Amino acid sequence: MNQERDRYQELCALLWHHSYRYHVLDDPEISDPAWDRLFRELQAIEARHPDWVEPDSPSQRVHGQVASGFSRVTHELPMLSLDNGLDEPAVRAFDARVARLLEASDPVEYTAEPKYDGVAVELLYEHGTLRLGSTRGDGRTGEDITHNLRTVRAIPLRLRGEHPPDLLEVRGEVFMPLAEFARVNQARLEASEEPFANPRNATAGTLRQLDPSVAASRRLDIRIYATGRGGDELGAGSYLEMLERLAALGFKLTSPVEASRGIDAAVDFHRQLESQRASLPYEVDGTVIKLNAFDLRERLGELERSPRWAIAYKFAPQQETTQIREIRAYVGRTGVLTPVAVLEPVHISGVTVAHASLHNQDEIERLDVRAGDRVFVERAGDVIPHVVKVVTSKRPATALPYRLPEQCPRCGTDTIRLEGEVAVRCPNLGCPAQVRERLRHFASRDGLDIDGLGGKRIDQLVERELVRLPSDLFSLDLESLSGLERMATKSAENLLEAIERARDVLLGRLLYALGIRHVGKRIAGVIAQHTRSLEALQHAESQELEAIPEVGPTIAESLRAWLADASNAQELERLGQLLRIAPPPEPELAAAPLSGRVFVITGTLSEPRTRLQERIQAAGGKVTSALSQHTDYLVAGENPGSKLRKATELGVEVIAEPELRALIETAEPTGSG
Ligand code: IVH
Repeated sequence: MNQERDRYQELCALLWHHSYRYHVLDDPEISDPAWDRLFRELQAIEARHPDWVEPDSPSQRVHGQVASGFSRVTHELPMLSLDNGLDEPAVRAFDARVARLLEASDPVEYTAEPKYDGVAVELLYEHGTLRLGSTRGDGRTGEDITHNLRTVRAIPLRLRGEHPPDLLEVRGEVFMPLAEFARVNQARLEASEEPFANPRNATAGTLRQLDPSVAASRRLDIRIYATGRGGDELGAGSYLEMLERLAALGFKLTSPVEASRGIDAAVDFHRQLESQRASLPYEVDGTVIKLNAFDLRERLGELERSPRWAIAYKFAPQQETTQIREIRAYVGRTGVLTPVAVLEPVHISGVTVAHASLHNQDEIERLDVRAGDRVFVERAGDVIPHVVKVVTSKRPATALPYRLPEQCPRCGTDTIRLEGEVAVRCPNLGCPAQVRERLRHFASRDGLDIDGLGGKRIDQLVERELVRLPSDLFSLDLESLSGLERMATKSAENLLEAIERARDVLLGRLLYALGIRHVGKRIAGVIAQHTRSLEALQHAESQELEAIPEVGPTIAESLRAWLADASNAQELERLGQLLRIAPPPEPELAAAPLSGRVFVITGTLSEPRTRLQERIQAAGGKVTSALSQHTDYLVAGENPGSKLRKATELGVEVIAEPELRALIETAEPTGSG
């Protein structure tokens, strides 16, 4: 009993530690399956001893009943908002005002950091345990959304460190990363639900749910940037010091935060951030500039709604107006017709936008958008531009309402709209557009990663009836390729080589490449981890599939139905014969000699970089793009460029591919496969 109790406590500590490594530091130490095993062990003990379970146990992210409403929460210290600076002169005027009020003759020290576009929340900790999570509301009164905030993995349910303040309030922004936003919206479309307009709405919509399992199923994230009550007890004299204390308590902080004397560096930071904006994995809408020193902040004080010591330097808007030339319907992999607005090209924050998605027929009707309309188009981060609003006052008299076609624009088959579904489909599985998109997905980077097999090539192959199914790719030869336009012998050889390389494939990649509805990249990996072989997958029953963590009935049913289809089964059988399918590596900490080692790859190598990267990761290693003192090895191929010199300067060991192979081989457990 005592032993079990000790083990229970040890498991809690281990799981908190690894959760922190994964969700806060973004630097895991163990594999997902290893985590699953610890977690299941914990759950088994908790099932035997329900009285041991504390609300801050790692198993209690989804905790308590479905709420019946939201109770009001008073913010003892009001949650202020920020003054906006819309351009550089406004920000310089802010600096001048600060200097004047402080009677400072030398430049003052500011910090600059991203302004996250999400939902502001406050978290209240008592004796190191999360007690209450609330929205900002009007700044004085918000709503209790504890049940949903508990599901955000980057929010600690219990603080780290020995002596957290008895009472501590922290404030930050909860948001939905863009990839998750895309996944959630895709699922909503497929379930005939209205997609969210943008990640901020998706975040707010998720936090407003009464049932915490909804929030648990969507991966929200958070960054902390301020304290409420108890902040003083951290004993910090400046913002940077405060952030350091908060990091030690286990919080995921706003980042990067740059401190500098004078406003110039903050203006530079803003420019840089704006240039990186489109490649960030979440939405930011500007830079927040704050005074670093707390005594100076205090001297400036606060106005009714915002402090005098900070300003939000907003990015130029990402909306423009333009005209719709025409509306076209594109046929996707699964036969769904997606209406797309072809636009009069327009520049939106540095990018030319010529197309915008209109999602589906319902969305077209909701917006009442027509060819010829003048519209507002918005580009948000990486998300495909979309039409926000129609300027109906400018509508030409000739503009008619648009309906998705009753015949497939590609193959002419009558389209269908299933009962209760938003999507209009072409039901012809042999439709050239679907065949093309399925092949494209199969060969895509996250699929079998066949270099040189893009949309144009696939069109040629399909048109010549050389390829219809993915398995057909493996019967291509020089002769069949020779007649194709713009296909020199050299490029034909390269393509055949790339196809040959693709025969070695991980089960998860193959599963993803098949393009089965609801089976995305991550889920495919999870399913492969559990089924481990093609045979096991082919014979898996719905129930077995559903027993896999994260695989719900929708995914299981979609996969089972796909496998049960005779032509799919036949194709999978063929692929099984043509490919060498490897089970996913099981990176055990002990059996992973690369664990904790950091690699940088440079130069031209014998296989795509992503493959090498996967192998290193499978052996427990980590791959980063930039060299630093933390790098252990530089893997150098041909023409390594400047990294080689930098590695020598830093004293980083330089190795070639054969040496890397040797390192990895010792990592692969013998006798498995
Ligand atoms: S500081 C009193 N830092 O912007 C200062 N706010 O327009 C407290 N926001 O309500 C806010 N990122 O929701 C701060 N790095 C950041 C932020 C940030 C986003 C939000 C926050 C605030 C709003 C003000």
